[in-house]
Amino acid sequence: MTESKLALFGGKKTVKGDHKKLFAWPIITREDEKAVLEVLRRGGMSGIDVTQEFEKEFAAWQGVKYALGFSSGTASLQSAMFGCKVGIGDEIICPSVTYWASCLQAFSLGASVVFAEIDPNTLCIDPKDIEHRITDRTKAIVVVHFIGHPADMDPIIAIARKHNIKVIEDVSHAQGGLYKGRKTGTIGDVAGYSLMSGKSFAVGEAGMLTTNDREIYERAVAFGHYERFNNSIETPSLKPFAGLPLGGYKYRMHQLSSAVGRVQLKYYDERIKEIQQAMNYFWDLLEGVRGIRAHRPAKDSGSTMGGWYAAHGLYVPEELEGLSVTRFSEAVRAEGADMVYAGINKPLHTHPLFHACDVYGHGKPTAIANANRDLRQPPGSLPISEGIGKRLFGIPWFKHYQPRAIAQYAKAFKKAARYYQELLKDDPGDRPALGGWSSYWRH
Ligand SMILES: Cc1ncc(COP(=O)(O)O)c(C=O)c1O
Repeated sequence: MTESKLALFGGKKTVKGDHKKLFAWPIITREDEKAVLEVLRRGGMSGIDVTQEFEKEFAAWQGVKYALGFSSGTASLQSAMFGCKVGIGDEIICPSVTYWASCLQAFSLGASVVFAEIDPNTLCIDPKDIEHRITDRTKAIVVVHFIGHPADMDPIIAIARKHNIKVIEDVSHAQGGLYKGRKTGTIGDVAGYSLMSGKSFAVGEAGMLTTNDREIYERAVAFGHYERFNNSIETPSLKPFAGLPLGGYKYRMHQLSSAVGRVQLKYYDERIKEIQQAMNYFWDLLEGVRGIRAHRPAKDSGSTMGGWYAAHGLYVPEELEGLSVTRFSEAVRAEGADMVYAGINKPLHTHPLFHACDVYGHGKPTAIANANRDLRQPPGSLPISEGIGKRLFGIPWFKHYQPRAIAQYAKAFKKAARYYQELLKDDPGDRPALGGWSSYWRH
């Protein structure tokens, strides 16, 4: 048997050995355990003292004035929308390739979602597809730094300033990332972050909101943090209602998560530095390989991928005679890289929730319950978002710089690309929509 034979057809696997430690995340040490036990033993789970310390440290790390801890990223982003005064009949613009919680909470505020295209290289909202979607009802643009790649913020901020609308950054995938030297989450008006355990900044079920805007911060406090909605409030429209839970929600962060967060933050920069070194090494090894491209900013751009959450590669089937990404991924998996799957989240605008579902009993679909026109977007309306699943594959998310092991994975991709012609024969093709509603829930 020659080395060239693909493992899919009985050849030798390129990836050998046990690499569990290479992928294990988050890194939990005695220090995390001690911090959690301290809160647990003194019964401080529902307090806010540890959370407030975490917020101070998080704000300092980001270089912003305010950070507010949340029970989830979903809650932080809903509060960011409320902070930006997204309300009845308003619209927000959001990319369609993302997770629900970048935008769906707008429904609970009586607002609608207008989806914009993504850029096929960054996978983030395409700045060129925003302005024509702005109406006098648009309150905010939600920017998602999707799977770690910073969105192109400069033109987005320029559009938002021109039309006097807010920019909400969803930083759930890109904590610690840079856009032209600036931290993701510090460029728009407000940012929401998921810090749940699957993310690169992983503390448990938790979220964070950051902003430099006092009014946005105070509105977020008023919405879901009644215990802090007190005499310290400066915003005149909120003052008369201090002490009342305006949103009716209780969104405070669980202090066991806050305790983990404080420890994780201490080591986060150094840990993602190693992830960056490992992931960039992997892609450097694959530079120039036919059919595949790195999903990362240019090296000299000052932009980075943060912690490379849920890292993917760009697939160019035209360079491999149309070989499907499904078949390509199957071949790479057979080489021993068993985390490699085709596709990405199915675009949100294609789900019935944004078309037919009457969530709140309006007697009509919630997507247009308070809209002044039918703004639902049918299949075919966002072709790049709808087709992107066929041009993406998941890659290993290395947490450590172990060049020998990483090289084995890179070799698995190289081998599949090199012998792609053998794969063309029984190529089943791609299903019409690759990916489920999240990359973790594949249907
Ligand atoms: C892009 C994006 N936004 C928001 C969220 C919501 O965060 P959470 O799960 O912490 O509520 C997630 C992930 O879960 C996400 O991937």
